[in-house]
This record gives sequence, C-alpha cells and structure tokens, in this order.
Amino acid sequence: MHAYTVIDHSFDVVVVGAGGAGLRATLECARQGLKTACVTKVFPTRSHTVAAQGGVAAALGNMGEDDWRWHMYDTVKGSDWLGDQDAIEFLCKNAPQAVYELEHFGLPFSRTEDGHIYQRAFGGMTSNYGEGAVQRTCAAADRTGHAMLHTLYGQCLKHKVNFFVEYFALDLIVHDGAVRGVMAWKLEDGTIHRFRAHKVILATGGYGRIYFSCTGAHTQTGDGGGMVLRAGLPLQDMEFVQFHPTGIYGVGTLITEGVRGEGGFLTNAEGERFMERYAPHAKDLASRDVVSRAITLEIREGRGCGPSKDFVNLHLAHLDPAIIRERLPGIAESARIFAGVDVAKDPIPVQPTVHYNMGGIPTNHWGEALTLKEGNPDAVIPGLMAVGEGACVSVHGANRLGSNSLIDLVVFGKAAGMQAAKSLGGYDLPQPDLPKDAGDEALYRFDRLRKSKGGTPVAQMRLAMQKAMQEDAAVFRTEKTLSAGKARIAEIYAGIHDIGISDRSLIWNSDLVEALEYTNLIAQAAVTIASALNRTESRGAHAREDFPARDDKSWMKHTLSWFNSDSGEVWLGDRPVHDYTLTDDAKYIPPKVRTY
Ligand code: FUM
Repeated sequence: MHAYTVIDHSFDVVVVGAGGAGLRATLECARQGLKTACVTKVFPTRSHTVAAQGGVAAALGNMGEDDWRWHMYDTVKGSDWLGDQDAIEFLCKNAPQAVYELEHFGLPFSRTEDGHIYQRAFGGMTSNYGEGAVQRTCAAADRTGHAMLHTLYGQCLKHKVNFFVEYFALDLIVHDGAVRGVMAWKLEDGTIHRFRAHKVILATGGYGRIYFSCTGAHTQTGDGGGMVLRAGLPLQDMEFVQFHPTGIYGVGTLITEGVRGEGGFLTNAEGERFMERYAPHAKDLASRDVVSRAITLEIREGRGCGPSKDFVNLHLAHLDPAIIRERLPGIAESARIFAGVDVAKDPIPVQPTVHYNMGGIPTNHWGEALTLKEGNPDAVIPGLMAVGEGACVSVHGANRLGSNSLIDLVVFGKAAGMQAAKSLGGYDLPQPDLPKDAGDEALYRFDRLRKSKGGTPVAQMRLAMQKAMQEDAAVFRTEKTLSAGKARIAEIYAGIHDIGISDRSLIWNSDLVEALEYTNLIAQAAVTIASALNRTESRGAHAREDFPARDDKSWMKHTLSWFNSDSGEVWLGDRPVHDYTLTDDAKYIPPKVRTY
C-alpha cells in the first residue's frame, strides 16, 4: 500500500500540455461538446510555443501567387522523403483555413499595406514546385508563437475549459491494452490526482533538453514521450534532431530564420557569404539542415569567427530600420540582452543549436497514437492520441521546414479534437471499470524517486547526459561517435540508482520535478542515439559522415524504438513511409535527389 490520498476526476478527454497543439486540441474538444480537461505543468501562456518567432506557414498567396500543392511539394522535399504524404497533404490543404481561423479568434497578425496578413520568406518554401521564391510564412512580427498562445488560451477560457495548472503528469493509466487516463501530481499542494478519460491527448512538446545547447525552454523535457516509453509503447524517428542554424553563440537563444527571410545573411571569418557555395540557388534560405551543416563545416575548416573560431556572423544592419522595428523587434532585444549586440550596427554571432525533434509518438493524421501490432504498422492504441512536437505524424520526416511547426500544432490539434468527438459521440460518457489499484504503479515509482538517497544530484546526471548528446550525436555523426555516445548514455542511465533527492516534501518540490523530468529525458536520449547508430545513411537532419548518401532502397522507412526502463535496453523496429496521398487532389511526389 502507498501512503498517498488520490483525488479522482472523470472526463471524456484529458489533454496533457497547454502549448499551441494542446490548447488547439483542448479548444476543439470543448467546441465539439466533450467534457474536457487540460492538465499542464506550466501556466498555459508560459508553454514553449510562446518562444516561436518567425511565423506559421500557409499558402494564402497574399504576397504573390501560391498553392497548397507547392507547399506540399516543399514539405515532402524538406522531409527528404521520409514524411508521410497523406498527412502532408492534410497539413498543407488545411493550413489556410487554420490560419484564417486564428485570425478570426483574434490573433494580431502583421499586415500588408492593403490589410492582408503579412507573409515572409522562409527556408525551403518555393513556388511552382521549386522554381521560384515565395513568401508563405504568416507572421505577427517576430512573436508569432506568443500571439498564438495568448489567442488560443483566450478562446479556451471563452469555452470554459477545465484547466489543471501546475499539475505534473506522472504516467499513463493503461488497462487491458487501452489508455484509460493519467496520474498527476499537483505541485501547489502536493496532492495526487487520477484523471480517468476515454481519450488522453499528449501534447507535451519536444525533448530538446537532452542536449546542452538548445533553443527550447528548460521545461522542454518530453514528458509525454517518457510516459509512452514506460508504458511499453514505441516512439518513432527519434534520430532526426533539428539544429537551428542561428542560435546566439554561447547561449543558444533563437534568432529567427525570419531575419534571413527579411534579407539578412551569414558570413564567415573571411567576410564571405559562404551559403552561396553550399546552396547556389537558395543561399541563406536553404533548409535548416543544409545551413547548419554549412556553418559546422566553415567552423571545422577554420573559417569560424572570433578568437576560438567557433561561430559565424548574421548581418542585418543593412536592413531598413523600420523593418527591424516593425517585423523583428524581438530578436533585436534578444541580441542586445544575450550577445550585447546592437543589430543596427553589428552582426549577431550565431552557431547551430538544437531546436526541434522530428521524432515522437507515432500517430495518424487524426492524432491517434499508433503501434506495430500483429504485423499491422498502423494499429491504433485505444484511448491514446498525441499532437504537436511530441507527436510524429509524420509530416516533417527527416527535417522540418521553418514555420511548418506552428501550422502542424493548429491543424493537427483541431483534427485530434474532431476525431475524439467523432469516435466518442456523446458528453460525459460513463467510464469503463478499472481495478481499484489503477495508477498505483505510477505512485510507487514516484515514491521511490522522492525517497531516493543516492549520492548524485539530478543536475549532475542531466549535465552528463547533455554533454554526451552534444558531443556524440551532433550535426555530423559517425559510427565511432554514436557508439561512444550510446555507451556513455547507457552508463549514465545505469547511475540512476544513485540519484540523490534532498527535498522530501510534496509541495513545489523542484528537486523531484527535475528528477521526474530527467527520467523522461534520459530514456529519450537512449532511443535517440540507438536509432541514430542504427540508420546507416544520411537523410535530412541525420548526417552520417560514414554513410554520406541517402539510401532509399534500405532506409525509406520510419524507425520505431522501445525502451526497457529496468535494464535501459533499447530495441528497434520499423514501419513503412506512407507513399500515397489522401485524395486525388494531390499527386504522390516520388523521391529525387535534393537540390538547393
Ligand atoms: O526561425 C524561426 O523563427 C523558427 C521557426 C520554426 O522553427 O518554425
């Protein structure tokens, strides 16, 4: 018996996470008439979506001709053909409507002279199937995520959503092969809560904090992915980790790709605009994997800037000051605070920094979580759904295009809410019976961690993991670095038994919060590095120096990874890429060599 009092709740749907995807899913569930709760470890408007800068992609055609099929082509090509084309069709076709919906909800988009939503250029976004340039990224200055999050939160309040704020989700409740709810710890008063639900929608974000240098918030610890692995379910395509080319040198703070979209450019120590060599056509607006590799090579070959020759310069002093004032005020402030740079006069020192996880919980385009079962690679896990960065739909495949993340959040957040309503078909439906001790396993784990008496502080373990990932699973990888990294991560994981928690309390115990987050992170570090070692080709963000070519014959497939929390062992499988479209409105785009 454990000593915790458990408070029970019952909802049709429980959404875990209140970033852009979580709020959009919550809102749709509420609009569809479902009894909905949103459980979140941070106050909704502090979720990491708040930090998204450059914008949200949709083929509105406000700045010139555009077509959602061109957007689809760019997304497939950007994904290096690992994206599922049915899901990509769904994303790009529904994107304009999703943006107009945000506009009608009150999102304060920047405007063109004639009052339309302003759109800027972003990497990899082209017109007419790669022929020309297009401005497709709808922007609210360089604070689009901030504007989106506040708009969606306001809509959720309007629809009287039940928010459970500062509740830390501990584990899924699984019974008879179905997800029946989630256990959570209320940080404010230390109580334990058992949320029963017909559908749990995980919208818990990425796990970028397995790395040392990361544009993500410190709260970005992939808690949903950790819960899924502990439930014995797989994650997908975890080897694909996106490095954003322009994190501020030394601190990793994001400087939006919108800077280059507005005309900014990169130079090396020789003052050369080196992107012209790597991507003669797209130049500074090549996709992120390409620009990140180019910067890394410049630094490696001795053309980096500064005394340590380990950054490049991002110039925007030549831009009209009105553009900086009106469209890039946030990055001017970040550059001043974090790099001591006045962007009107000097370039910003930048280097590639971990930014986004293409991998996550496998889902279909309705947000239903999938697993491999009895030979069926698309088997739906009853009761479990996932959206946002924590999910892998997969529309981003091996590499996400900038501004395709915010649109993914709202298109699939809404789709998940609609699908939940369709499959449930009623309000406040009775919950199926559960054993009396449902959720106890989560509490035993929680209790063990809370009372652990080892000698190693969580911060020390986390740092060791972050350094190992940063050094051994970086922009470029080889069998040597990945094998070394895999062994390091396994050793660090084994040390979990020596974890030391000094605070035993239940109220705002941040020591324990960080320990729980660490257990989520380290499991995902292990499957990330094992998946990267296994994939012996280069595709998108996964650049193997020992296997430099993309190998469609052997590797046109998604990696699935499972984790044994007791032994730290990882095992791998795969499922096919969807090489078909949803409707005849779009044509399947066959793989070809990427050009820039
Ligand atoms: O560069 C940026 O503004 C980031 C956008 C994104 O990751 O989509």
